[in-house]
Amino acid sequence: MADFRTFFAKAKHIVIISGAGVSAESGVPTFRGAGGYWRKWQAQDLATPQAFAHNPSRVWEFYHYRREVVRTKEPNPGHLAIAECEARLGRQGRRVMVITQNIDELHRKAGTKNLLEIHGSLFKTRCTSCGVVAENYKSPICPALSGTGAPEPETQEARIPVEKLPRGLLTGAGGLVSSNCFWLGPGLNPPPLDDLERIMNKCLCCKVGTSSVVYPAAMFAPQVSARGVPVAEFNMETTPATNRFRFHFQGPCGSTLPEALARHENETVS
Ligand code: APR
Repeated sequence: MADFRTFFAKAKHIVIISGAGVSAESGVPTFRGAGGYWRKWQAQDLATPQAFAHNPSRVWEFYHYRREVVRTKEPNPGHLAIAECEARLGRQGRRVMVITQNIDELHRKAGTKNLLEIHGSLFKTRCTSCGVVAENYKSPICPALSGTGAPEPETQEARIPVEKLPRGLLTGAGGLVSSNCFWLGPGLNPPPLDDLERIMNKCLCCKVGTSSVVYPAAMFAPQVSARGVPVAEFNMETTPATNRFRFHFQGPCGSTLPEALARHENETVS
């Protein structure tokens, strides 16, 4: 940690790549841990255009469930340490950027400003007719989903008729809307990553709470590490890429991050 803190004190830019592990201590289930199943499916089984086309009612039950779970959650000390670090270093003319795979908006709720939600948000919808993306925090998002979405495998599916699922309200097209989360699957356009490479090459990189199994996010840290940028991994366990990183801090990031990102004695006072 002392070695990492030396790099941290000198870094002009810091890029933090986060995954579900940073929200675990807020009570949001991770994808590949014990809470990774909803009924008999994993997120990657339902977060695809094919699954939505095949059974929009089931996919909307899933997203309704996740919206209602996340709505009750608060940022934990890991989120708060990142947001405080961004504000403190910003006053020193240094830049912190957070690239998150998470769709729970907890970084935003903690106060992080310079944020790239590359997998979208649970609280945005995309109209399947006209493509318009709209924020939507309604609970439930439509009356028909009220009381549905229970995660237990034996739960009876709601089988909601398409006309009663969330519709595009802004455009008047009234088209069926889907969640605007980044959906997985071959041939899908990766999320917008313009100028990300430029930023990533001038910094210290922290990879927090991600198993690094889903691309393109899984490639960021190994890529910059290969270019000599120091990378620190914060995780409960090692990952397939751990041996490519300069630092690995094992443990809950709600504890390791506040220590790692705290003010350093060499920081200019501000
Ligand atoms: N502190 C640090 N790390 C943690 C903590 C914690 N408290 N709890 C869990 N972890 C780690 C786990 O060890 C695991 O390596 O966080 C990681 C979570 O991995 P995943 O559940 O695979 O989540 P993530 O890497 O974000 O998944 C990427 O996959 O399903 C898709 O779109 C979905 O964005 C998601 C993507």
